[in-house]
Amino acid sequence: MSVHGDPIPMTARRGAALSGTAEVPGDKSISHRALILGALSVGETRITGLLEGQDVLDTAHAMRAMGAEVTHHGPGEWTVQGVGVGGFAEPADVIDCGNSGTGVRLIMGAMATCPITATFTGDASLRKRPMGRVTDPLALFGAQAVGRAGGRLPMTIVGAAQPVPVRYSVPVPSAQVKSAVLLAGLNAPGETVVIEREATRDHTERMLAGFGAEIRVEDSDEGRIITLTGQPELTPQTIAVPRDPSSAAFPVCAALIVEGSDVLVPGIGLNPTRAGLFTTLREMGAGLTYENEREEGGEPVADLRARFSPDMRGIEVPPERAPSMIDEYPILSVVAAFAQGPTVMRGIKELRVKESDRIAAMADGLTACGARVETGADWMTVHGMGPGGLPGGATCATHLDHRIAMSFLVAGLAAQAPVTVDDAGPIATSFPVFEPLMERLGATFDGAERCV
Ligand code: S3P
Repeated sequence: MSVHGDPIPMTARRGAALSGTAEVPGDKSISHRALILGALSVGETRITGLLEGQDVLDTAHAMRAMGAEVTHHGPGEWTVQGVGVGGFAEPADVIDCGNSGTGVRLIMGAMATCPITATFTGDASLRKRPMGRVTDPLALFGAQAVGRAGGRLPMTIVGAAQPVPVRYSVPVPSAQVKSAVLLAGLNAPGETVVIEREATRDHTERMLAGFGAEIRVEDSDEGRIITLTGQPELTPQTIAVPRDPSSAAFPVCAALIVEGSDVLVPGIGLNPTRAGLFTTLREMGAGLTYENEREEGGEPVADLRARFSPDMRGIEVPPERAPSMIDEYPILSVVAAFAQGPTVMRGIKELRVKESDRIAAMADGLTACGARVETGADWMTVHGMGPGGLPGGATCATHLDHRIAMSFLVAGLAAQAPVTVDDAGPIATSFPVFEPLMERLGATFDGAERCV
């Protein structure tokens, strides 16, 4: 179900310094995978800290529609009674994945080697996004896909009744594509091999191993070679979902650019396939420190401490770092506007096929706020105006994209004049408590009803 109703404009204005502790919600990527792998296990998986954003709720709904029993017990506490690998039932109705590319692509993968047919749709943003990147490899297993022109949703997948394992080299750096192929490989006999030239987030591999699948990862000249043995019996797990580094990025970056701020964001995973933004910010001279570094559930975790950083300098972000910070370029481009000198971001063409064309959305909004931004097919340069230097005073279009909405609201907290987003509604897909959490730190937002 889409969260999207009437647009909800929201305005952020410069105010007091931000201070205090920001406990951000659970990781979106891990939350989707916990529900899907729980549904593919035999028995009861217990989850705490699940992100209760609309994207994940839509995946929970889809797992129910395919026969799993998914139960909500209290805030973040869920159980999933799985149907086992290959045990999905045919859904009686269309599966609506709302705004979620991760949800739809992973679920398509998971059902593509089951003898069922399912039709998928989503909101206006998701219906524009390319699905061929997933249905091409799923066809190799024997699944068929029929969608709109250009491989767009709505789309029907006829799962393979007699799937064969595949060897697939992922042509774009995409954890969603890699994961769809691995989840399809679960119900194919024999070994499915996925090769990725650039390492993308590895939650699927880690979690499959945790659920008892036989999976090997080797580094080679070709890239990472992942080999999965099909048709395992997955064992239900108890999963504590860590807090989302991609959500942590917003209070962290807000603290760096709002004068006098000092914010603690505890318990953030620093898995190297996700932590590229924090490395980049530190290279720019941000006052960002890792406190209480530890390991939790096999993942490196730390409390992040971010302080106002008036001396940040623009840098050239290494393109090979892009997969580890792919969702963080919008908020990085905001920080870049408050640094000294240009920040150059290359190798980012994947941003053009996210919830919106994020290069265009950020360039348009930052330009409207008075920044100088240059873009190309796969790059963007933001010319920094120094601390407090961005004029602001604009309304920015968010194009049904949660991260664009949050990025411009953070910009408004430090710009000279308020920044309005035309629609803050999509924030509920990934970070439903963004507004109260930021307000508790001292942020000043005016909601639709207050900003006439
Ligand atoms: C995700 C993978 C990334 C990311 C998305 C979450 C995942 O997309 O942008 O928000 O959970 O696998 P791509 O795999 O398409 O790069």
